[in-house]
Amino acid sequence: MKLSVIGAGYVGLTTAACLAQVGHDVFCSESDVEKLSKLQDGGMPLFEPHLEDVIKGVRKAGRLRFGSTEEAIAWGDAIFICVGTPPLPNGDADLCAIEGVARAIAKGASGYRLVIEKSTVPVQTGAQLRKHLSVHSTSGLRYDVASNPEFLREGTSVGDFLHPDRIVIGADSPRAAAILREIYEPIIKQSFTCPIHSDCPKRGDPIFLATDTNSAELIKHASNSFLAMKISFINMVANLCEVVGADVTMVAEGMGLDPRIGSSFLNPGIGFGGFCFPKDVQAFIRIAEKSGCDFSLLKEVEKINQGRVERFVEQVRNELWVLRGKKIAVWGLAFKPNTDDVRFAPALSIIRRLQAEGAHIQAYDPEAMEKAKKEIPDVTYCQDAYEAATGTDAVLLLTEWEEFRKVDWSRLATLVERPLIIDGRNALLREDVVSNGFHYIGIGGVSATPKEASALIGT
Ligand code: UGA
Repeated sequence: MKLSVIGAGYVGLTTAACLAQVGHDVFCSESDVEKLSKLQDGGMPLFEPHLEDVIKGVRKAGRLRFGSTEEAIAWGDAIFICVGTPPLPNGDADLCAIEGVARAIAKGASGYRLVIEKSTVPVQTGAQLRKHLSVHSTSGLRYDVASNPEFLREGTSVGDFLHPDRIVIGADSPRAAAILREIYEPIIKQSFTCPIHSDCPKRGDPIFLATDTNSAELIKHASNSFLAMKISFINMVANLCEVVGADVTMVAEGMGLDPRIGSSFLNPGIGFGGFCFPKDVQAFIRIAEKSGCDFSLLKEVEKINQGRVERFVEQVRNELWVLRGKKIAVWGLAFKPNTDDVRFAPALSIIRRLQAEGAHIQAYDPEAMEKAKKEIPDVTYCQDAYEAATGTDAVLLLTEWEEFRKVDWSRLATLVERPLIIDGRNALLREDVVSNGFHYIGIGGVSATPKEASALIGT
């Protein structure tokens, strides 16, 4: 099918590449001219595992092209809107870009189009889209509007798109539902050639859930808010563990064994970040407020999350006493591993707080340093984890990249000024760290000193 994707961010680019991979003819547009020319020249505007290879493959096969919004609107029988919906100062989602695209479709398209909102939008945005398409239509456009929320995680978005647990569509006409079913048929049947797994693990066919537009829109916000609530919940349990002398990793394990709770998203740490959870929780609170529902539960989720940075800084202060003039290593800047995305990354907030108190930061991240430099230039950016730790009074692990787990601790011990690791993600093996003479401080009562090494490794 001829499909268009408007917006080449994480979601749009993954959507365009994967839809082309499963056999569709896709045109993807981007309004940022610099980004667009990079994509047209075969470059990548962002880091996302596997995406570059998939794009190369489908472009070579002639199934993916990049260009302007106008060209995209003219191309596709179905148009996916994947533009940004950033937060406004009052927490509402800014729907400016969506409105602009609706206007452009209304003015530029003729015949029939299925307009699909994939960007995360407040409930009833579909109704607004319908209204604006009809108000601005000048060339006899016939259309349906549908919602198709994405559940892609940055870092694993290609796999998430091609092997989803569920595909949710919200359509208010049989025609729209049928088109979406046809678009996703190769994924529902898992009948495409998988570009990332040589012997693709059969993950079970995804569930195709068709609802009305309003319900589909709500599913997205409710899912993200629920996951954020799980994280804030375990972060509060971690605080309690620290006071009463319990170990949050054991508490989380015990809780997660109950299938009604499940073990995922129970990792405590410095709080959730990224461009989705913080803004989606805020937007969901506002949506509820405007509908007369006081969702104060989510206000607490947000408040707990905002408190994570200060609590972590307090932990650093407790250990180092005076921060002024101290050299501190920061391992990890991205809001989570396997991405270069630093938007709303707790690591950046922590660095700013430490700098405000006079600390000097030496930072390293495998992918996110270019983006971080634009946000906080006054940091010493280093080649690797060892260089970042050299001469420092503490190493703070703020993003749980796999390579930090593989550090040669005995080598590291010779480089630091003081052997102290503060693990903001409970990602490191305590035994490895303390048996090499480091004092280890984790989140939620999982700290250990070198003296406890033999007890931990059972000798
Ligand atoms: C999230 C959702 O997981 C996706 O389903 C959704 O499609 C996406 O938002 C979106 O709305 O577009 P993402 O933001 O890529 O995906 O990242 P997550 O893996 O969900 O992590 C979000 C944040 O929570 C990160 O800062 C992570 O470090 C933190 N987190 C996650 C924890 O602190 N603890 C956990 O146990 C899990």
